[in-house]
Amino acid sequence: MPRSAVRPLAQISDEPSLRLDIRLAGGRRVQPDAAPGLHIVELMRAHGLPVKAECGGAGVCATCHVRVPATWRHLLPPPGEEEQAKLDEIPGADDASRLACQIVMTEALDGLELELQPDSLRAPEGCTAA
Ligand code: FES
Repeated sequence: MPRSAVRPLAQISDEPSLRLDIRLAGGRRVQPDAAPGLHIVELMRAHGLPVKAECGGAGVCATCHVRVPATWRHLLPPPGEEEQAKLDEIPGADDASRLACQIVMTEALDGLELELQPDSLRAPEGCTAA
């Protein structure tokens, strides 16, 4: 599988390089570098991925909705009360749903698979459709 052409993580962190495996709308798959201690949404934004993340990672907008496959979920701490409350506001959210701003990258998560959900995709540049 070819790797995505995203900028090197060295531009945002000196930590050892790990990897994410992110599916976007239309089946496009990117495998950006990651580093322990950084939030997933920070990594997505640093690599230019089209996540809305309207609150900038404060955990209050629920526009960084991702789904985590069952094979990875057991490695994540369960959502806290505030995250769960936001997830409950997302139509169609389920047990696989998480907020990318509430997941901190660790070495145990190297290769973490995520699906960025359509409700959290930023419109393409130049698109004025509501
Ligand atoms: S970026 Fe707003 S809740 Fe995650």
